[in-house]
Formats: sequence, C-alpha cells, structure tokens
Amino acid sequence: MNVDYAICGTRNSIIGLPKGLEILAKGGSALDAVEESIKLIENNPFDITVGFNGFPNLMGIVELDASIMEGKTRKAGAVAAVKNYRNPISIARKVMELTPHAMLVGDGAERFAKALGFQEEEILDELGIRNYHNIMEGKSLDIPPEAQKLVRELFMHFDVHLKEVMEEYPVKEWYRKLSFDKHGTTNVIALDQDGELATGVSTSGLAMKFPGRVGDSPIFGAGIYCSSKVGSACTGTGELAIRLCTSRMVVERVHQKIAIEKAAEMGILELKDLNEEGVLHILSMDKSGKCVGVTNKSGLFHYYADSTSEGPVKKASTYIGL
Ligand code: GLY
Repeated sequence: MNVDYAICGTRNSIIGLPKGLEILAKGGSALDAVEESIKLIENNPFDITVGFNGFPNLMGIVELDASIMEGKTRKAGAVAAVKNYRNPISIARKVMELTPHAMLVGDGAERFAKALGFQEEEILDELGIRNYHNIMEGKSLDIPPEAQKLVRELFMHFDVHLKEVMEEYPVKEWYRKLSFDKHGTTNVIALDQDGELATGVSTSGLAMKFPGRVGDSPIFGAGIYCSSKVGSACTGTGELAIRLCTSRMVVERVHQKIAIEKAAEMGILELKDLNEEGVLHILSMDKSGKCVGVTNKSGLFHYYADSTSEGPVKKASTYIGL
C-alpha cells in the first residue's frame, strides 16, 4: 500500500471521519484529525455510547472516559469518569500537552477542564433520560422478573441497596449479559502526510456501570496504544482488554514483525485464556495505512478512508468465533 494519509474508525465513527479526512488532506496532523473526528462523534446526541447523551451509570449520571496518543513521541493523555463535559477527548489532549501526567480522573479532571475554559453543561437531554429510564424499568434489559425489583432498588438507592442486591442476585452475571449490547465506544486512528500516527478513544462506558467504573478506553496498553509504526484500540467489554493489555500487545506483535492482521487476530484469540463472555473489537492501522478490524462478534464493521478514496468506506471486520 502506498497512501499519503489515511484514517479509520469504528462503526459509529462515520459521523466524524469526513472531518478527519479533510484535515489530513490539507496537511493537518494525525492528532488534529483524531481529536476533531472524535469531537463530532461525542457531540452526536443520537450516539448513546459516547459523549453527549452517553449511557449513564447506575445512578443516572454520565461518566465519560477518553484518551489520545501520539505514535512518534508516545505522548499520551487520558481522562476518566468525567461528568458534565461533552468532549473528554479534548480534555485528554490537554492533559497530554499541558500537564506532566498521563491521566486525570473524576473531580480532578473536571477542575482541570473548568480551569482551561471548557464549557460545563448537562450532557443528558430528554432522549438520553428516556433511554436511562427504559433500561432502569427493564424495558431494554434482560433481567429475570424475580430480580427486577431488586435491580430497580439498586438503580434508585445504590448506596443503600448495593450490598443486599449483590448478596441476593448475581450482579456479575447480569453485567456479563449486559455487556453484549449495552456499551459502545469510538476508536479513531489517523496517519498524516508526515507519516505520523495518532490514536484516540472515547466512551461513556458500560451502561449502568457502577459509579466510578473505568473501562479500557482511557487505559494505555488496554483500550488504546500507538507507536510510530502502528496504532491500535478496542471497543467492547473493557474489562477484557484491561486484563489482557490488548492494544499494547497488538502493537508489540507488529513490532516483532508479525503481520497486522495476525497480530490483531491473536488479540482476539487470547480471550480464550479468560474463559469469559464478552465482546471485543480490535481496530489497528499501521504506518502504510493498512487497517484491520477483528472481533469475536459477528456482523461488526469499521470505516476506512485514505488519500485515494472519496470518503470513508465500510469494511467488514474479521469475525473469529471462539
Ligand atoms: N470499551 C469501553 C468500556 O468498556 O468502557
């Protein structure tokens, strides 16, 4: 492959990739292309897995995670469990550029954002609140009838009922089911005309997560990694990618001269070691613009565009049944 620039993203990234492509076409940086693409995805009120109107936690509060990483320098910035800011990707970039740190969480990240002039706002509108209530009332969740009352009490009075619910009902089991469809994340990887790579990730994480739960998306090595040769990121059940350090493993395999398709496939095959239910999708792109998506859930896809294409093209991700 020989392209001047390229960009790829997960299935919900189509709303942002054209902007990233435009930036790359004008000679802009991979970092800018990643950030600006992800901002548009975070601003989309109909994407209930990222940014504005993202899935709330058990208490009905949206807590967002995001990260960005530059390949050449391996500089990295992330925020986790951030409330009331719709563009965590931009806060993450400021963490990378302005602080001596790689990650800020919760109150600290919010204070940092406020100090830099990011706009604080309510990030659930009527649609987002209705989605939350639908899940809470069991309308879009597979909770056995006998457990519904308990789970509703957990939703409404987390602090009072958590211990009781966990003793009486296999909450872990319920989350395992939930994690098949009640999460979503965006990954964007860009290659600019200088041959530099950057990777970014943003998510509201698992729907109805415990307050304070942080997934793989802001964790370097797990849900995101980027070197000068290859970028990699994950969507799906974040706990799996955290436990396997998936993104760094994929990058490392490419550094060991394993083909990028094989490197990502090995990341999915490693799930067998955990013997857990859950979905993982790995998106990787190398500095030649070669992009792969590999997953253990059938029917998933990603988008890709480069200097030779008119716009993002939908590509089926490789399915590996485990
Ligand atoms: N992969 C996103 C999350 O688990 O939070």
